[in-house]
Amino acid sequence: MGWRNRRCIRSFRWKPGRLQYLPGSDFNAYSERIEPASVIQIEPFSEAALPAVYELEHVCFPKDPWSMTAFRQELTNPLSVFLVATDTDTGRIAGYGGVWLMYDAGNITNIAVHPDFRRKKVGTALLRRLIHICQERGMNSVTLEVRAGNRGAIALYETAGFQICGLRKRYYQDREDALIMTLERNREETTNEDSGH
Ligand SMILES: CC(C)(COP(=O)(O)OP(=O)(O)OC[C@H]1O[C@@H](n2cnc3c(N)ncnc32)[C@H](O)[C@@H]1OP(=O)(O)O)[C@@H](O)C(=O)NCCC(=O)NCCS
Repeated sequence: MGWRNRRCIRSFRWKPGRLQYLPGSDFNAYSERIEPASVIQIEPFSEAALPAVYELEHVCFPKDPWSMTAFRQELTNPLSVFLVATDTDTGRIAGYGGVWLMYDAGNITNIAVHPDFRRKKVGTALLRRLIHICQERGMNSVTLEVRAGNRGAIALYETAGFQICGLRKRYYQDREDALIMTLERNREETTNEDSGH
């Protein structure tokens, strides 16, 4: 009996789902069906999307929005992967999210979904895409900070497999605590090797 290919599967612990990749690298466009009648396109952040993203930031984070300068820096920061989700029917920006790839760890910097598009898995699609990119780029973990009272976001991250692993006391300007949540790369190597039996 011959040898089958040895397969080593290294992956983050992420529930299998309906990922629909367009061919090409992770910087190419990518689309995902978010509900029966709706498809979002996830693409790299661009200058053209800046005004709408900045406006949405103020809707989603009225207490402490990123400045225009901070968003502009994401366009050129070599450590940053920043993605924008667009509703293909209307052309509206449904959400955005970003990660910094630092050494062997991804750090989610931002994730937001327009209120009109919430609970339709746009946040999930963005998060999955960011995790996938971290995985492709060899990151060993993905980490983020979230307001301790942001139950919706915490639930989203827990659904994705993130676990609470720390607390930053009074981290935010209004002195709310931040939870640190991490998704570790699954270190188990699944080996499928025909042993000849
Ligand atoms: C948090 C946020 C990004 C979620 O985006 P979303 O597209 O609505 O999330 P999804 O539809 O992908 O939700 C996936 C799962 O996460 C959980 N979840 C998401 N929002 C939730 C909420 N408000 N309350 C409880 N659970 C929630 C649910 O388990 C949900 O699955 P379900 O809808 O089948 O129950 C969005 O509410 C948002 O932009 N909030 C304001 C900005 C923000 O707080 N960003 C996070 C900063 S750390």
